[in-house]
Amino acid sequence: MHPHTLFPLLLFLIPTVTSCPIDNDCYIPPGASCKNFMIPVTTASDNYAWVGPKWNDDFGFIDFASVASSRTDAGFPLPLGAPVSQTAKYMIGATFCTPALAGKNSGKVLLATHGLGFDRTYWNPGCKPDQYNFVQYAINEGYSVFFYDRLGVGVSDKISGWLNQINIQVSVLSQLIASLRANQNTLLPKAPESITLVGHSFGSYMINALLAIEPSAADAAIMTGYGLVGADARIVLEGFGPRVANIQSQKFSAFDAGYITTRDVISNINNFFKAPAYEHDVAVFSEATKQPFAVSELVSLTSSLLKLNAKDYKGPALVISGEFDYIVCGGYCPGELSASFNPLFTGSKGFETYVQPAVGHGLNFHKNATGAFGVIFEYLGKNGI
Ligand SMILES: *[C@@H]1O[C@H](CO)[C@@H](O)[C@H](O)[C@H]1NC(C)=O
Repeated sequence: MHPHTLFPLLLFLIPTVTSCPIDNDCYIPPGASCKNFMIPVTTASDNYAWVGPKWNDDFGFIDFASVASSRTDAGFPLPLGAPVSQTAKYMIGATFCTPALAGKNSGKVLLATHGLGFDRTYWNPGCKPDQYNFVQYAINEGYSVFFYDRLGVGVSDKISGWLNQINIQVSVLSQLIASLRANQNTLLPKAPESITLVGHSFGSYMINALLAIEPSAADAAIMTGYGLVGADARIVLEGFGPRVANIQSQKFSAFDAGYITTRDVISNINNFFKAPAYEHDVAVFSEATKQPFAVSELVSLTSSLLKLNAKDYKGPALVISGEFDYIVCGGYCPGELSASFNPLFTGSKGFETYVQPAVGHGLNFHKNATGAFGVIFEYLGKNGI
């Protein structure tokens, strides 16, 4: 649907006036050529079986969230059993954008993986794109961008929220990289010169986990909204004010009850934004375009079996997170990023951490998003990427 056809509806659907169209799937940055793809992947991963309680509604879920997940006698993560090797075939929805006029950087591909609560439009919002759109910024820098809906959200295949977890998603990412290296699903005349993985939050965890097991997967890595000393997983879960997604809204009816979502814009702000560094209407836009996330995705991050030591990865890597990131730094990142990540990226050439001033977890939706983008592209440039 064309974004403008929805525009009059905004006044009825949302509590605050916003200049941002909610259906932003069709935004194409000026000067870009973009194409959508549906990509078959075959995953192979060690998956945890969910052994905790399952629920059908908010009554059942909140009993898990408030009691089962936090009881000191039960331990966390309670609900995960032993890993089992599984393979599966899925379809993944993606977009490739490249500068309409090819230049010296257009063979350099940024492969972007969004975090929990979003789909691929996190990178390419139609909301005030001059201020908040990463793809547009990258195109203006001459780079190409491949961005996709992670498994379960957007137009990618749906799977159970009690199954969807990081190991499967890492396998999807590995397959997508292989397809790009073979110059499939691009708009390039020949195979990419380099592939830089760019992640936000859960997407950054995935990049780190992939580089730990496949050190040559990427030529460079940018991990945004990432930290390892965040608020306790249980507090983060409660911070979402979580509700079962398919009960909250008809638009989430295709998700099973293992998918949860923020209760409202304020609980979204609680975990993703920091005042006064954001605009209210952009937070409203973010809530209106949100996607649910799988409870197994969140819980799988706390597994002690998740390997994050990427010592054999040799390329450049940058971790950049907001100064006041609640989810991954417990509200204060200075000092935490270098302490957490320097020991994990000992083989990386030019490894750096950077604290983006004033902002919270959702870096791209804060007022100074282009300041953060500038740091990223300066880092790539000085490392010859
Ligand atoms: C915006 O971000 C840049 C890059 O981190 C930083 O140098 C600048 O001080 C920031 N501006 C504000 C107002 O926070």
